[in-house]
Amino acid sequence: MTFFQSIRAWFRRKILRDRAERWNHQYAIGRWEVLKAPAEYARFDACIALLRRHAAGGRLLEIGCGEALLQRRLAPGDYQRLVGVDISAVAIGRAQAFADHRVRYLVADMQKLELDETFDAVIFTESINYVPRRHQLLRNYARFLNEGGVFIVSIYRNKRSAGIWTEIHSVAAPIDRATTTNEVGAWDCEVLRLR
Ligand SMILES: C[S@@+](CC[C@H](N)C(=O)[O-])C[C@H]1O[C@@H](n2cnc3c(N)ncnc32)[C@H](O)[C@@H]1O
Repeated sequence: MTFFQSIRAWFRRKILRDRAERWNHQYAIGRWEVLKAPAEYARFDACIALLRRHAAGGRLLEIGCGEALLQRRLAPGDYQRLVGVDISAVAIGRAQAFADHRVRYLVADMQKLELDETFDAVIFTESINYVPRRHQLLRNYARFLNEGGVFIVSIYRNKRSAGIWTEIHSVAAPIDRATTTNEVGAWDCEVLRLR
């Protein structure tokens, strides 16, 4: 990055409070390397077990996919199509190493996403909590779901998470769930259908 580019990125991050720039910065300085730690494996695997139960071998849309960590734990037969979306160009730049004829990664804000495909599952692992009005988001995302399709949402348990689940449950009903607990904390993962 040139000096001019880093000043522009700093200005967008600090002064304009540009969210994409903030995530790019965090990925660039290694803040999210923690997501690759072995302590995270179990919460990914809990979501994958639910995915296999409700959308095995299906068409998957992953929102807030970061560096393709979910895909890296999936077996090739777990999906026929996988589209990963993230607001961070830095994260998606790294995810592209895992793209192939079935897998596409793209940079987009989940609140403005436009796609001309539909899916059997739309997955949010540790990402829906970063946007407001999740109930509106999920209603809006119904257009990406095939008939019978599901949302799979995972959220780390903290003092905000109960309120986020309440908001989600106002528009979507859980049909299956799993909780992962270890030394780092607890993650709840739910499979949901719109009410
Ligand atoms: C804590 S990370 C989780 C990454 C990965 N899904 C996981 O489970 O490890 C949150 C991710 O959400 C992405 N994100 C945050 N706000 C977003 C938005 N408005 N649209 C798309 N992605 C977003 C971030 O760039 C980041 O990659």
